[in-house]
Amino acid sequence: MTTYDNDALRIAIDDGIAVITLAMDGGFNKVNRVLLEGLAGGLDWLDAQEGVRGIVLTSAHRDFCVGADLEMVLGNDDPALMLEATAALNAITRRLETGKPVVAALNGSALGGGYELALGCHHRIALDTPKSQIGLPEVSLGVIPGGGGTQRLPRLVGIQAALDVILQAKMLRPPKAKQAGLVDALAPDRDALLAAAKAWVTENPKAKQPWDTKGYRWPGARPASPDARNMFLAASAMVYKKTAGAFPAAEVALSVVQEGSAVIFERSLEIEARAFAKLATSPQARAMIRTLFFHKTAADKQKGLPHVEDPGFRKVAVLGAGMMGAGLAFVSAKAGYDVVLKDISTEALDRGMAHIDAELARLKHLDADARAALRARITPTVELEGLRGTDLVIEAVFEDLALKHRVIREVEPMLAENAVFASNTSALPIADLATASAHPDRFIGLHFFSPVEKMPLLEIITSAGTDDHTLARSLAYCRAIKKTPIVVNDGYGFYTTRVFSAYILEGAQLVAEGHDPVLVDWAARVAGMVVGPLQVFDEVTLTLGVHAMAEAEKYLGVASIPGAELVKRMVAADRKGKAHGAGFYDYASGRRKGSWDGLDGVRADLGVAATDGSVEALGERLILAQVAEVGRALDAGIIRNWRDAEVGAIFGIGFAPNTGGPLSYADQRGLPELVAALRRLEAAHGERYAPARTFVEMAEKGETFFG
Ligand code: NAI
Repeated sequence: MTTYDNDALRIAIDDGIAVITLAMDGGFNKVNRVLLEGLAGGLDWLDAQEGVRGIVLTSAHRDFCVGADLEMVLGNDDPALMLEATAALNAITRRLETGKPVVAALNGSALGGGYELALGCHHRIALDTPKSQIGLPEVSLGVIPGGGGTQRLPRLVGIQAALDVILQAKMLRPPKAKQAGLVDALAPDRDALLAAAKAWVTENPKAKQPWDTKGYRWPGARPASPDARNMFLAASAMVYKKTAGAFPAAEVALSVVQEGSAVIFERSLEIEARAFAKLATSPQARAMIRTLFFHKTAADKQKGLPHVEDPGFRKVAVLGAGMMGAGLAFVSAKAGYDVVLKDISTEALDRGMAHIDAELARLKHLDADARAALRARITPTVELEGLRGTDLVIEAVFEDLALKHRVIREVEPMLAENAVFASNTSALPIADLATASAHPDRFIGLHFFSPVEKMPLLEIITSAGTDDHTLARSLAYCRAIKKTPIVVNDGYGFYTTRVFSAYILEGAQLVAEGHDPVLVDWAARVAGMVVGPLQVFDEVTLTLGVHAMAEAEKYLGVASIPGAELVKRMVAADRKGKAHGAGFYDYASGRRKGSWDGLDGVRADLGVAATDGSVEALGERLILAQVAEVGRALDAGIIRNWRDAEVGAIFGIGFAPNTGGPLSYADQRGLPELVAALRRLEAAHGERYAPARTFVEMAEKGETFFG
């Protein structure tokens, strides 16, 4: 056997077939200079060998290759240099696909640039493992595939099927990837994978890419056909509906697929490369990559946070079987804990267990026995006695300080020695709750988001009395239930609730100033917000809003604004939100209809008339109202880590992901310009826009958050 190796790979030739095994340092392969130069070196060496019939490309690591080296992408803001990098990848894939038969043996995930490398092979076989994902997720990070993906995939599976993957940034498990044509075959294990790949090389000595074959016809609709035109039109409408124009990557991907489909293959790669280089070096994409990939990963890995391997939690109790409690019981049982779900009302427990059953039914990958076992881990009870020996208790009873105090006093004596007491309060200061606790050092805030099963974030709040070990144990629980943590300091509303409240209240304020709710919500989406403020307000209920405003006034002493008065009057007029079928919008069987036609009446009472505003101006106010509040949270020392400010805003409350987060937004605007804009709004609309001391000082010193 003849062999070769370099920094990126090793090659072994056996019986005329060269197996190239990608084996970069660090446990995974990523597309960067090392990989591309390694591949070029390997192919040079292969060219000099006699009797090579074909190539199998695979990886020594768990994954095949998970995409571009994002550090390289972040470290390069020069489009010309970025163009060079894509040219190098295109040169390799082009060299592979125009040479000897080559098969990609995908032993694990093949994503982004990794999957594009596989697309440059004549055939793709994937190991059928549930750990593996295959696809092109670039658009979700604000870029497009830059290594031929937008050109090869449509030519391989057809325009419609390719747009489906590219525009929605899909990552598919192997069986789905096979169905969608992303891979040609599946193999049950690694040996079978390599054997199948070698067999294909032997059986296809003249392999060529379809697009390099004479008489090539596009699968499905041909590019210039009326069908294809309709497809592009429909896709464009779909993209606009989803992105409101705030996320250019999907639009760019779409036009690159369309333009590329009209020209010869090699030219199409240049179109893609230019568009990629421009997007990937844009401030927006860089901020998205930094937050959605680097900061999110760092948060998931709990970097810089206290660690214990085993928190010693066996029995978890959840107090309150309401909307939050039932979800908390379910995710805890799913993570393997024995769970007691305690309420004072058997009806509430029944509703909670019904919710859990509905969630269980969704776990399609579990068989009936496994589901029954999971359900059996949850014990519903109205008896205090059931809590005996609990290691971790999370209270999710009504948001009422006196009630919570009573519950803490009643429950603590039942718990195991060293138990952690957590509150899922959405706003009450943890220190104020802990006054009822005999062990404030083991008292902490674990603020979840609704619906618990779906929302990825867990906001952990430590008060001055909470000890580090309790934080470490809570973080271990967070790992077990697979949530992304942010850790913040104590204060009314902590971080996310403050910013979220500022958002929906500003939405109400704009309505109180005469703007139509539909326009306000649209303006938010155009600015990048995931959901409009009034739609969310209706969902959390206006009643809760009124309660929260009263509390905020008490704790933070915030001045009341006309928007708050509007919300109170709406509640009085029985416009309490979606669950009541009536809020800022009308609802019919749970579906949102037009905005409420009674708003003019309420506004007339407040002395304002309906008015028109520009979408940009409204969007800016909705964003800046939140950024101003983030600034106050910085000043108040709530935010321990800038990374968490970004991750918390995006994953907790749907803050515009296209900005990379409120602090990245501040950076992109420039702090001096941000401060000036906030001052303008403060003068026009009130002190809630006043720029935080932190912003002002950083602006004066010429500082930025992330450089
Ligand atoms: P909910 O009203 O749906 O449920 C509260 C449950 O607590 C009811 O079933 C009630 O019977 C029960 N309960 C009342 N007193 C009790 C006692 N002494 N012992 C045991 N159970 C008792 O309320 P939800 O929405 O689940 O909220 C619970 C907590 O979670 C609140 O502190 C809330 O602020 C917080 N939260 C709520 C979020 C949401 O989106 N709804 C999000 C994050 C936190």
